[in-house]
Amino acid sequence: MRLAHTWLPADTPDNEFNIQIISAHDSLLVTNNQQKIYDAVSSWWCKPLGHGHELIKNSIYEQLDNFEHHIPANAWNAVIEDLSTKLVNIFTQMDKTLYASDGSSAIEMAMKLSYESRVLQNQPKRSKFIALSGAYHGETIFTLGVCGIDSYKKNFAGLLTDNIFIENIPYVTGRNDVLWHDCNFDENYWDNYFGEVSDLVTALIFEPIVQGAAGMKIISKDFLAKLVIVARRHDIHIIADEIMVGLGRLGVLSVCKDIIGFEPDAVCFAKNLTAGSIPMSTVVVNKSISNIYRLHKKAFHHSHTHSCNTLAAKVANNYLDYLYKSDILDNVLLAEKKLSEMVINLQAKFSFILNVRAIGSIAAMELDYNTVDVNTIFKLAVKNGIYLRNIGNILYIMPPIYNLLDEISKIAVYLDNVLSKLKITY
Ligand SMILES: Cc1ncc(COP(=O)(O)O)c(C=O)c1O
Repeated sequence: MRLAHTWLPADTPDNEFNIQIISAHDSLLVTNNQQKIYDAVSSWWCKPLGHGHELIKNSIYEQLDNFEHHIPANAWNAVIEDLSTKLVNIFTQMDKTLYASDGSSAIEMAMKLSYESRVLQNQPKRSKFIALSGAYHGETIFTLGVCGIDSYKKNFAGLLTDNIFIENIPYVTGRNDVLWHDCNFDENYWDNYFGEVSDLVTALIFEPIVQGAAGMKIISKDFLAKLVIVARRHDIHIIADEIMVGLGRLGVLSVCKDIIGFEPDAVCFAKNLTAGSIPMSTVVVNKSISNIYRLHKKAFHHSHTHSCNTLAAKVANNYLDYLYKSDILDNVLLAEKKLSEMVINLQAKFSFILNVRAIGSIAAMELDYNTVDVNTIFKLAVKNGIYLRNIGNILYIMPPIYNLLDEISKIAVYLDNVLSKLKITY
């Protein structure tokens, strides 16, 4: 069967190479030719437990027997309140949890909450956001306004809000990089920077530690920790986009709290929240935002039909319990070292690998554009039994984490095979 009427995301009209999936289990996608393909990108970064995990299936069956979803206005159930409590309790200073269906919507909600809380405090001019160059927070018009990657936003420039972008971010290769611990942060510079704009700014938004769409760039922990402290001095909210990294991907529940060492004013989770099964996203806020609404007895108008979807909430509850009870998070931290060694070894073997980096269950290699044809990577990878997507000249992996320790040697062979067959263009 050929693909006739479905417009796939990120696909170009002239592309003729797509794969047809007929089933998926564990870390494998199975095609209509019965080929088994290792899902090395966790189906766009959202399947920490792989495909068809018993925990997820049983959660869905169990909830289906009762009900799937009901109107969330003036109505709630124990499953959703249980999940909200668990999410708030990841932190020490969080208060309320709001829900949507996808990551972009959660980001929009966090941005609107931050701004509306300013409006309620008679500060309507504080409408701007400070974002980072290389940032990706989704592809709706409002979230594209804080996107720091030109290719996503250039054709929509006329529709986007005007925000402020921080350039020259100190990137690192991993936790052993000297800049990870000390990036020569110029506190006076940043104090003046935030001081000059704080009358117009409501929040600083960033992806804690890893900028995924920018090519798995790893930001110095020292930089983010100190940036947050200075921004807060100027009463700027901190919105943390943990949609890709949160709830397991880096071996912790919250990257802000457990790696950088601070609690944001609003934090967004999606992808991993339901282990990539039923779509659900969330914004967890502290009292600096929720108390403003309490004070003004004001509703927050962002009401998705599927907000609080109970099927999704049941899965999320059980996934969070699993993160606490199993050794899955510890295993990610053990895997980090092995993934790092794997990419270092590959770099030693292939001269066209310019740089490598790894953190948690993410590893990336920067290939030399002048030497290899990066456009052939996807097709070549599929032929070799692995689903890999490159971001420009960055070849990365972000595999399911539940069995990662056991899979690394296999992944290394897959990557070696693909890299050995890359078309050399010089
Ligand atoms: C960091 C980050 N923020 C936001 C999003 C948007 O999430 P969604 O695709 O569910 O809208 C993504 C998706 O890749 C992401 O990686």
